[in-house]
Amino acid sequence: MSHAHQTHTVSATIEAIFTHELAPKDQDMRGLYEKAKRDQWNASTDIDWKLDVDPDGGIFPDGLIDIHGTKYWDKMSPRERNELNRHFSAWRISQLMYGEEFAMLVCGQLVNVIPDIDGKFFMATQVVDEARHSEVLTRYLLDKVGVTYPLTASLRNLFDNILALPQWYFKTVGTQLVAETLAVSLFRMLEQYSQDPLVSSICKRILADEARHMGFGMLSLPGQMEQLSAQELRDVEDFACDAAAGLLGGQFPREAYEAVGFNRAEIEDIRKLRHEVARKNEHMLFRQFFKKDFHASLWNNMTRVGLLSARAVSKLANMGIAAPQQAVAA
Ligand SMILES: [Fe+2]
Ligand SMILES: [Fe+2]
Repeated sequence: MSHAHQTHTVSATIEAIFTHELAPKDQDMRGLYEKAKRDQWNASTDIDWKLDVDPDGGIFPDGLIDIHGTKYWDKMSPRERNELNRHFSAWRISQLMYGEEFAMLVCGQLVNVIPDIDGKFFMATQVVDEARHSEVLTRYLLDKVGVTYPLTASLRNLFDNILALPQWYFKTVGTQLVAETLAVSLFRMLEQYSQDPLVSSICKRILADEARHMGFGMLSLPGQMEQLSAQELRDVEDFACDAAAGLLGGQFPREAYEAVGFNRAEIEDIRKLRHEVARKNEHMLFRQFFKKDFHASLWNNMTRVGLLSARAVSKLANMGIAAPQQAVAA
């Protein structure tokens, strides 16, 4: 392959489990599979690609940019702010784009390693869903924004780790339970608060698929968690909490600041002050929306699959995640 330098390889030992029982057994999983077949869409024809991103408007809400409300922001002209917003948004959406590719790879593994046919069939549909998500975000970035950014080291670590783990339930906890819960909150926020109607419509389409993917975790994990030993269950809890912490922290869009001309000293300063800025901007509606939505979803989903032990509760508390005021409807 001529593009070998643009790939990286994860060594993973996956069992390819061939089942000889193909008759439907799990009616709920079959129902999910039926929905997946019914609700397919085509990124080429179901998205209004005639729409362009308004050059005078941002993509992500400005209040999510690390320097919003600081001296750096105040010094910028409206044009410079839009330019930063475009790069910042492209950086964030690039990470989501890689996340979709990662999900496609994991689900390809899950087709093999999940033992029962109902789960295998559903996973085969998630492979194509994630291919479409990766496709649609890539096309948005290349055709409408004009720039993509590299995958961060921390996300790559998490992805590689999940791809290398042999047990299907670790992959599903890392992917369908934790990573997709976070991605769904991000897509929901973007759908509601983005100033760009094109990206909103893309998020809306992706979210319809994500509901099924999370449904897979909710159907498949509870029974499996019940079968684990106390020690194995603790390992899965730790893994879920660590994955959530890894996804929430360590996401600084350095390259976006470089692209609009900040120097190294300024970028280092911005990296340090961003947590303070995030706290100051906490009141903003979309920040509250994201936080409340993600915290409640993660809490409720971990509860439903049987991973919210007292230990997990205190781990989540360390990340600032507490019991939601009211349970989210199923
Ligand atoms: Fe996806
Ligand atoms: Fe997904």
